[in-house]
Amino acid sequence: MIGIIGAMSQEVAKLKAVMSGVEVENRAGMEFFKGTINGKEIVVVRSGIGKVNAAVCSQILADCYHVTAIINTGIAGSLRNEINIGDIVLSEDTLQHDMDATGFGYPLGHIPQMDQSVFEGDKRMIEAAKACCARVVPEIGVHVGRVLSGDQFVSDIVKKAWLTETFDGYCTEMEGAAIAQTAFLNKIPFLIIRAISDKADDSAEMDYEVFEEKAIKHSVKLVLALLETLD
Ligand code: ADE
Repeated sequence: MIGIIGAMSQEVAKLKAVMSGVEVENRAGMEFFKGTINGKEIVVVRSGIGKVNAAVCSQILADCYHVTAIINTGIAGSLRNEINIGDIVLSEDTLQHDMDATGFGYPLGHIPQMDQSVFEGDKRMIEAAKACCARVVPEIGVHVGRVLSGDQFVSDIVKKAWLTETFDGYCTEMEGAAIAQTAFLNKIPFLIIRAISDKADDSAEMDYEVFEEKAIKHSVKLVLALLETLD
């Protein structure tokens, strides 16, 4: 069983529409849609926003659905000039930029009493997703790099510069590292796939509805192609 954590309701609805034998279960206030696509067992869910929702959702995927992989799709703010709105970032690795136990002697971003605070995306899934992007959304720029997560919507040039300098991130969002940490603790391979919706500064003027529609279309195409490559 493969777990898919989507960000947008239409994205989940589109995946649900191509699933067979859909069963819905409500857990922790989240709807889990279980079924098959081309004979492959999947469970699709919207976690809601933020690291706590994302971690709770991922742990349910581990405990109740015994997923063998987790794919997370969503949007993110770009932290690099060369990463444009509409591009896709695949998680080479991910960390929590708001984990701060410096007063306790730990470097920024380090989780106290854990050996690891940076969680690597599954290499096979990254390569498969790269190949799928080239095939199904060839017009989109694809970047493999570090995804930063925190319980903050970043829309400030100073904060953006600090994030880029401190953690060398490609993009910033609000769930990926929590999903990654939960996946790591449960020994489940994962991949975070983010479509860039803004530049994480105060300049980002965009037509969100047009962007969202495109992002959903790309994300559904990509997830369907990626599912074909996974066991
Ligand atoms: N999701 C999309 N854009 C974001 C941003 N700028 N900060 C945090 N999460 C985001």
